[in-house]
Amino acid sequence: MSCGLKCSKGLKICCGVTSIFLIVVLVILLVLFLTDFKRKDPTITLQSVKFGRFMFDVTPIIDLNASLAILVTVDNPNHGSFTYQNSTAYLHYRGRLLAEAPLHEDTIPALKSHNISTVLNVYVDVTEVPDLLGDYLSGIISFTSITNLVGKVKILKFIKIKATSYSTCEILVYTRNQTVNSICNIQLKL
Ligand SMILES: *[C@@H]1O[C@H](CO)[C@@H](O)[C@H](O)[C@H]1NC(C)=O
Ligand SMILES: *[C@@H]1O[C@H](CO)[C@@H](O)[C@H](O)[C@H]1NC(C)=O
Ligand SMILES: *[C@@H]1O[C@H](CO)[C@@H](O)[C@H](O)[C@H]1NC(C)=O
Ligand SMILES: *[C@@H]1O[C@H](CO)[C@@H](O)[C@H](O)[C@H]1NC(C)=O
Repeated sequence: MSCGLKCSKGLKICCGVTSIFLIVVLVILLVLFLTDFKRKDPTITLQSVKFGRFMFDVTPIIDLNASLAILVTVDNPNHGSFTYQNSTAYLHYRGRLLAEAPLHEDTIPALKSHNISTVLNVYVDVTEVPDLLGDYLSGIISFTSITNLVGKVKILKFIKIKATSYSTCEILVYTRNQTVNSICNIQLKL
């Protein structure tokens, strides 16, 4: 009987200490997040685009089968690194899926810029994108790329949080001077 009383008293103390500890940890995390670890959105810069294969085929349909080697630099201004799983980037033109690029699993380190290279595979029936020629002649072709990355954010070497990054980029190709400009919007959901 006396033991039972002691044990439950011990349990109460134990519970109390645990919850105080948890609250302290939560408060520390909250303070870290709100001050020094306040998230800033990373930036993506398109470094280079190089044509690999480029084939026009006229039978049985007029199609374009091309590959582009792409190098992008991701600048991560955050104190957390981001490790993501294998994924795919999609390129749309006027609402139509035009190309896909595999993204190999990788880690974007904290407070650094990191290069990611991939190969964009384009396969398109030219007759299904009648606006392409007109856009080409007008001087600007606008593409949208969508990439969702599932992974983990790591802060202070020991805190790991599951996170998904959603990025949408508007890619403008100026056909006259052959330059590419991109504007990206990246969101990280924890
Ligand atoms: C595009 O060309 C590559 C290389 O010749 C070939 O392996 C691939 O199957 C082609 N893609 C399609 C969809 O025909
Ligand atoms: C990711 O893709 C690479 C090849 O592109 C493959 O070797 C690796 O096993 C994949 N990883 C996972 C977890 O599926
Ligand atoms: C990324 O690639 C660019 C262009 O090749 C290069 O100038 C830069 O130093 C590279 N950055 C890193 C972090 O490797
Ligand atoms: C290319 O042309 C576009 C529009 O004509 C212009 O906005 C852009 O600054 C040009 N880029 C370069 C590098 O000249």
